[in-house]
Amino acid sequence: MKKKSLFCIILLFVFYFSIGNSWGESQEISLREDDIEHSQENLQNGMQVVMNLCTLCHDLKYVRFRDLAGIGLSSESIDKIRGESDANDSILSKMNAEQMNALFGATTPDLSLMVKARNGGAQYIYSLLLGYHERGDGVIINSLFPDIKMPDVFAYSIEKDELDRLTLEQNARDVAAFLVWTADPKADERRTLGVYVMIYLFVLTFMLYLVKKKTWARLNSNDVT
Ligand code: HEC
Repeated sequence: MKKKSLFCIILLFVFYFSIGNSWGESQEISLREDDIEHSQENLQNGMQVVMNLCTLCHDLKYVRFRDLAGIGLSSESIDKIRGESDANDSILSKMNAEQMNALFGATTPDLSLMVKARNGGAQYIYSLLLGYHERGDGVIINSLFPDIKMPDVFAYSIEKDELDRLTLEQNARDVAAFLVWTADPKADERRTLGVYVMIYLFVLTFMLYLVKKKTWARLNSNDVT
């Protein structure tokens, strides 16, 4: 009896904390919910924005230039992007940690695995980039991360033109899609391999079924002594 009530109390605690946590999270962040497309075109556009803008301040140290072939870039395009760097070099910012600290009072986190490091993943990146807006007193803040030291790099908070805003939103989604790819560049390969493995298992099962049928046919008939 005692053991049972102890068990119930533990269960209640687990229940309370799991409810508490999910409530806390949903209170903290409300992310944009639009679909993020992951076509090669989206990934390449996202890559372009990341290379031109984000790598001014952020590293992507787990991605090498030659890995970009994975999103369909030809070796000529990769050569153009890497410039003086070697194809085997990681994609690094020209600025180092001290310079970043002096400029912004914060070091910039590496972006290669960022979607895995934040609740909400791609949706978080997308929402963060577009989270900037002008407060009543003219100060620009980010509603997702009010104290963030990163400036509004898309200048989204001051963009008034509706079409330009849509382009920025598309770019933000594509950046998020590209960062999903950088966090797991082999995901597509694994998916394709998975399909082949399933086909193989299916064929194997069918063949084993035929073998079983043949063996039992022999056992059932009288030609086995
Ligand atoms: C001018 C420099 C600069 C540029 C350009 C820049 N960032 Fe940042 N970023 C920062 C700084 C500084 C921080 C650290 C902020 C902090 O800790 O308060 C940061 C932090 C971040 C974070 C982490 C936020 C978190 O939850 O901790 C993400 C994600 C991010 N940047 C994404 C991007 C992306 C994507 C781009 C390109 C579209 C980009 N940044 C361009 C300076 C920059």
